[in-house]
Amino acid sequence: MPILFNEKEMLFKLDTLSSSYIIQVYDEGYLLHLYYGAKIPDMNVKGLAFKGLHTSHNPGNEIINNRLGNDQEFSMDLAPMEYPTFGAGDFRTSAIQIKNSAGNSVTDIRYKGHRIYDGKPQLEGLPATFAREDEAQTLEIFAEDAVTGAAVTLIYTVFEGYGAMARSVRVTNTSDKAMDLEKVYSCSVDFPGMDYQMVNLYGEWFEEREEVHRNLQHGTQGIYSKRGGSSHEHNPFLALIGLDATEEHGECYGFNFVYSGNFVMEVDVDCRCCSRFTGGINPETFNWHLEPGETFQAPEMVMVYSNEGMTGMSHTFHRLYMKHLIRSRWRDVRRPVLINSWEAAYFDFDDDKLVAFAEEAKDLGIDMLVMDDGWFGKRNNDDSSLGDWYVNTDKLKGGLSSLIERVNALGLKFGIWYEPEMVSPDSDLYRAHPDWCLHVEGREKSIARNQLVLDMSRQDVRDNLFEQIASVFRNNKIDYIKWDFNRSLTEAASMLLPAERQGEVFHRFVLGTYELMDRFTREFPDVLFENCASGGGRFDAGMLYYSPQIWTSDDTDAIERLSIQFGTSLVYPVSTMGAHVADRPRTPLATRGDVALMGTFGYELDPRKLSDEDKELVKKQIEEYHRYYDLIHFGDLYRLIKPVDNAYHCAWQYVNEEKTETLVTVVTMRQRRTPFFILRLRGLDPTKLYKDMDTGEIYSGALLMNAGINLTPLHTGATDHAPSTDGTSLKKYFKELGN
Ligand code: DGJ
Repeated sequence: MPILFNEKEMLFKLDTLSSSYIIQVYDEGYLLHLYYGAKIPDMNVKGLAFKGLHTSHNPGNEIINNRLGNDQEFSMDLAPMEYPTFGAGDFRTSAIQIKNSAGNSVTDIRYKGHRIYDGKPQLEGLPATFAREDEAQTLEIFAEDAVTGAAVTLIYTVFEGYGAMARSVRVTNTSDKAMDLEKVYSCSVDFPGMDYQMVNLYGEWFEEREEVHRNLQHGTQGIYSKRGGSSHEHNPFLALIGLDATEEHGECYGFNFVYSGNFVMEVDVDCRCCSRFTGGINPETFNWHLEPGETFQAPEMVMVYSNEGMTGMSHTFHRLYMKHLIRSRWRDVRRPVLINSWEAAYFDFDDDKLVAFAEEAKDLGIDMLVMDDGWFGKRNNDDSSLGDWYVNTDKLKGGLSSLIERVNALGLKFGIWYEPEMVSPDSDLYRAHPDWCLHVEGREKSIARNQLVLDMSRQDVRDNLFEQIASVFRNNKIDYIKWDFNRSLTEAASMLLPAERQGEVFHRFVLGTYELMDRFTREFPDVLFENCASGGGRFDAGMLYYSPQIWTSDDTDAIERLSIQFGTSLVYPVSTMGAHVADRPRTPLATRGDVALMGTFGYELDPRKLSDEDKELVKKQIEEYHRYYDLIHFGDLYRLIKPVDNAYHCAWQYVNEEKTETLVTVVTMRQRRTPFFILRLRGLDPTKLYKDMDTGEIYSGALLMNAGINLTPLHTGATDHAPSTDGTSLKKYFKELGN
C-alpha cells in the first residue's frame, strides 16, 4: 500500500515509486512534516523534527511545555510544520490565513482524523490529475481550527508507478458565522537545509519559460502572477534541486501548480537554514468569503521527486500528464499537420486566399487549414469585434460553411480561432452589454490591444459565449479550435458580486473560464483544442486538462525558440507544445523543421511563396513527422546540450520506451573555428546494438552513451570554400539491430 498509517507513532508514510513523504501528528494535534526525499523503508524518523533549542522569540504551546517540563523542545516557529498557519507562533511563510468574525486573522489548525482510500477525488470546478481506484491512493487529513470552526482537509494522492504526488486543500466553514479566507495555499513543504538551487521558468512575451537557476539565500525568493493568467513572466513551476544536481544526476523536487490564474510559489529560508516551499493562489489578489456551511476548494499542486536529475523529474511530469492530466482523446491520437493563417496573412485574407493556401497545402501533405484571427464581426485589425462571433461576410463571401466545404473538398480539415474571454469596445456585444466587462464604476477602464476583459464570473456572460461558439460548431464541420487570450486583467471587479465577495473575482474568473472550457469540450469532444495566450502566456497544467496542446510562443524564430521549447519541456510533454515552421529565413528551412518537430508540428507561412525546392523539403519534413511521430510524442526526451549552457550547439534526443529507437537532433547555433564535437547520447540500453540508419554503422548503446558520436564537421568555419554552418541542423536516427 503506498499510504501507511502507524497508529502507535501517529505517522503517515506516503510512498511513491521513488520517494517517501512522512507526516507526524504531534502532541496537541500539531501536524509536523518529517521527511520528503528518496524512498526509505523506515518509520523511525521522529528525531528529524527537532531543530535545536529555541529562544524566547520562538513561541511554544503551553500545554506541551508544561508536559515536557521545559519550553525548549518544541516551538511552532522552528518545527517543520506540515501546513503552517498564520499568527499562532510560526513566523515563517504561512499556508493558510483566515479572518474570523471577530476581525482577526489568527489561524491554528489541529489534527482531528483522517481517511485513506483508493483512487483520487475530483476537485469541484477545477482541473486536476485523475486516476482510477487501482492507480492511486489518497489520504485526507481532517484538521480544524476549533476557535473559528474552519474545517481544513489536507488531501494527498500518491500515484502508483510514478514518483509523483498531488496535493490540495479544502476549507469548510462549520461555524454559524461568516469568515474570510485570506490565504489558502495548496502546498507547503519544509526542507531540512538550504543547500538547494531554485529553478524556475522565467520570461516575457516572445521569450517564455527560460530555465533560471539560483542558489537559495536567507529570506524569501519566489515567483508569482497577478495578471489574471498564469503569465508569460513566471510559469507556475518551481523546483528545488541539490547544489550538485544536473540534468543527469542528483535530487530534484519539482512543484507544478495545476492552475491558470494568479499564483505564488516561494521559498522561505529561516535562521536555522531550513527552507520552506509554499505555493498556491496569490493571496494578494484573493479573499474568499465563506458563509456558514460553505466550502472552498483550492487547486492542486503536483509534486515530483527524482534522484535522477532534471531529466528524471521531467520524465515523471511528462508520463504523469500524458496519462493522468490531459483528458482529450487527442492525447493519444496523431495530430494533424496544420497550416495556420496568422503569420501567412494576419488580418488580410478572404475565402479565396484561404482556399488558395489549402490547395498548396494539400500537395505538400498538410492535413488541416486553421483560419486565425480576423474572420468575424468587422475585424480587419485588432481595433474591433471581439465578442461578435459571427462571420465577416465581406471576407468570407460565401459564409463559413461554404469555405469549410471548399477546404474539405481538397481533403483538408478545418480549424478556427476564438478569443472568448475578451470584448472589443467597438463590438455589438459591448454596445449591448457594457456592464459585462470587468470594470470599476467611476474608474477608467485600462485598455490593452484595444480590448477589455469579459467578466467570466458571470453565468449570463458564459452562457452567451457558449451559445455563440456552440452554434458555429453545431452548424459547421470544424475540427479544431485555437482559444486565445491576449491581455491581462485589470479593474478586476464584478458588477454582480456584493462588496464582501469582490476579492473572489480573479479566482471566479478562472473558474468561469474552466467552466466554459469544460462545457465546450464535453459537447465537442472530437474537436482538437489548442490553447494560446499571446503565445505561451497560459502554458500551464490547468489548461492541459482541457487542451492537449498549447501554442508555445509567438516567437517562431527557430534559434530563439530553442530555449523556449527546452524550458517548456522541463515540465510539459513534447506532444503539448504547439510548434510551427514559419517564414523566418535567417535560419534554414531544414532547421526550422527540425525545431518544430519538437512539438505538435505545423506551418505558419504562405505556401504559395515557397520555391519548388522548399516545397520538396516541406514534403520531406512532413514524411519525417509521420515517421518519427510515436518516438517523439510518446518517447522520452533527453536534453543533451541546452541552448542556455552552450553558445555553439544545442542537442536533444528522443528514446522510445523499449529503447529500440532513438532520434538525435543537433542545431549549430553558432559555428566555432575549432569545432571538435563529440556528442554522448543518453537513455539507451548499454547492452543493445544500434544501427546508424544513415551510415549503416553499428554501435553498442554503451559506446553511444560513453564514447559518443563524433559530429566534428569537415570544415572549420565559413570560408570561400565552405559555407557557414550557423543555424544548420542534423538528425541522427539509430535503431536496434534486427528491429
Ligand atoms: C496571439 C497568438 O499568439 C497568435 O498566434 C495569433 O493567434 C494572434 N494572437 C491573433 O490575434
